[in-house]
Amino acid sequence: MPRESSGEVPERSGDRQTEASQKVSLRLKIRRYNPEIREDSWWDEFDVRMLPNDRLLDALHEVKWRHDGTLALRRSCAHAICGSDAVTVNGRNRLACKVLVKEVAPRCTVEPIRGLPVLKDLIVDMEPFFAGYRSVLPYLVPEEGEPDKERPQSPEDRHRFDDTTKCILCACCTTSCPIFWGDEGYVGPAAIVAAHRFIYDSRDRVAQERLQILSAKTGVFRCRTTFNCTEACPRSIQVTKAIQEVKRSILFDRF
Ligand code: SF4
Ligand code: SF4
Ligand code: FES
Repeated sequence: MPRESSGEVPERSGDRQTEASQKVSLRLKIRRYNPEIREDSWWDEFDVRMLPNDRLLDALHEVKWRHDGTLALRRSCAHAICGSDAVTVNGRNRLACKVLVKEVAPRCTVEPIRGLPVLKDLIVDMEPFFAGYRSVLPYLVPEEGEPDKERPQSPEDRHRFDDTTKCILCACCTTSCPIFWGDEGYVGPAAIVAAHRFIYDSRDRVAQERLQILSAKTGVFRCRTTFNCTEACPRSIQVTKAIQEVKRSILFDRF
């Protein structure tokens, strides 16, 4: 009796051999932490073979699925959209799904992002980050009453905050900020980016309230303009520029 076709093209042994010959070695040094078995963190090393265009996230999956199922990491979309797999790679904050193996082979270190409490391995507690985000009213507050049809906005007005709409809340910026590392009270660059997106939205009516919040000692004037945040942003948002714009609006009431 003929077997049912799965619809998939059968893999040929020649394809497998070609793929195997293209693979490169990658030694991953991963900072581990598990408070249930040890108080301090430690390093583990894993050797994997990956295709050059595989992502670092694929390599971490390889470790978790074939070497050590206890490795804890966050991820969801695998396409640089959800922002959940921010990690520190060779000392720089990156999305694991946006780093190609060929960029880091033959070896790289992977650590949890800094400045937030580590829960297990590469997973941090994001609550302090989201507390800063929530504090700046990160949502549109339009004039009261229903519009007849819609709330119009010109292309020029929309362009004013275009850059900061691209944020995916990955925390790469905030957790690369030396001020945030040393001062838990600082709202951090991601929260300021979120505030910027609404402060300059012509349909919003509480910009002054947000500026007031960000003029407090936990706000924008904690920033020392070191640009770590801009360098870390996987969406290429001009984070420091946005912060400077908010500072100027507070100082000169111009927006
Ligand atoms: S520019 Fe400001 S917010 Fe960005 S990393 Fe430097 S101090 Fe932090
Ligand atoms: S500004 Fe960039 S780095 Fe910061 S949270 Fe948004 S996307 Fe991530
Ligand atoms: S897994 Fe969603 S951004 Fe990387």
